[in-house]
Amino acid sequence: MKAIHFDAPGNPEVMKVVDVKNPLPSENQVLIKVKAAGVNRPDLIQREGNYPPPNGHSNILGLEVSGEIKSLGRKVKNFKVGEAVCALVNGGGYAEYCVADAGTIIKKPKNLNFIEAAAIPECFFTCWSNIFDRGEVKNDQYVLIHGGSSGIGTTAIQMLKIFNIFTFVTVGNDKKKKLCEELGANIVINYKKEDFFLKIKEINNKGVNLILDMVGGDYVQKNINLLCSDGKLINIAYQKGSKVNIDLMKVMLKRLIITGSTLRIRDSSFKQSIRNSLIKNIVPYIENGKIKPVIDSVFFFEQSYKAHKRMYSSEHFGKIVLDMENKLG
Ligand SMILES: NC(=O)c1ccc[n+]([C@@H]2O[C@H](COP(=O)([O-])OP(=O)(O)OC[C@H]3O[C@@H](n4cnc5c(N)ncnc54)[C@H](OP(=O)(O)O)[C@@H]3O)[C@@H](O)[C@H]2O)c1
Repeated sequence: MKAIHFDAPGNPEVMKVVDVKNPLPSENQVLIKVKAAGVNRPDLIQREGNYPPPNGHSNILGLEVSGEIKSLGRKVKNFKVGEAVCALVNGGGYAEYCVADAGTIIKKPKNLNFIEAAAIPECFFTCWSNIFDRGEVKNDQYVLIHGGSSGIGTTAIQMLKIFNIFTFVTVGNDKKKKLCEELGANIVINYKKEDFFLKIKEINNKGVNLILDMVGGDYVQKNINLLCSDGKLINIAYQKGSKVNIDLMKVMLKRLIITGSTLRIRDSSFKQSIRNSLIKNIVPYIENGKIKPVIDSVFFFEQSYKAHKRMYSSEHFGKIVLDMENKLG
């Protein structure tokens, strides 16, 4: 099969299409003929050489796919060959065929095409796990999502809207601000023009109950200061750095919880339980059109380097997806 490969970490141009052996599904896995693969920031970090795949995971980039089931492992029930699905995968998505644990597969909602379905797994699993499971968000709470225009941000905004949870988000320009407002965020702050701490305090003096942060750096202290009593700060990335000099006094005084998580290293049963929660709580809203993955752009398989460049540009709003079915030209 064809897959994206790089000999050594480097810039986006190191990625090239090569021939490799098809992966073989184990007894609890399925083999998927990939039609589309989502691009995520962790792919860029892996290609740069800073996020190596955990032991036993594919070296090929790509954490989410959509496609049709080609074959089933011996113990797999509830799925059949030919079925249209999307799946969270342990790498291997930037390829014609990819294996997925049966517990991380979601049947493709009929109202979505394969491009849209490929944009679901990584962001929906991450948002559900951090905001609803770890964050235990409640209806009467206030939430702040940093990076509202990201794949993660556009997913979080829609999920929180469904549950009527008041959501602040930060973005880097006014175009993204408008789009996040249209998507359902209650208050959108352009962090290049306004201080998010001051703006939120002005609107709700108590601050917020939960912050999902992918920025880190100087945001950490501001986040701590912004949380109300018993609030939670959950980091899923530290784009501005994970080494910070902070005053922890408010953590004690306000009984804050500072936590974080990464999805990829978690085992299949953990991921399966998120998958089950998504099927129960979120997929019905995808099927009735109230939640829809936001697609920024689609690139041909051979142009994966362009997809990565688009993500570096930070001009995107929502998800960048690789079309694995149609060929360039
Ligand atoms: N821990 C996990 O399990 C997990 C899983 C998936 C993703 N992630 C992380 O989650 C983040 C989003 O992933 P993605 O794939 O959706 O990537 P993405 O679309 O490229 O998102 C990155 C976002 O960060 C925002 N950002 C950068 N600097 C900012 C700042 N100073 N203030 C506010 N926002 C800022 C950018 O928005 P602006 O251009 O508007 O600044 C951009 O939208 C990435 O950092 C990724 O590594 C973590």
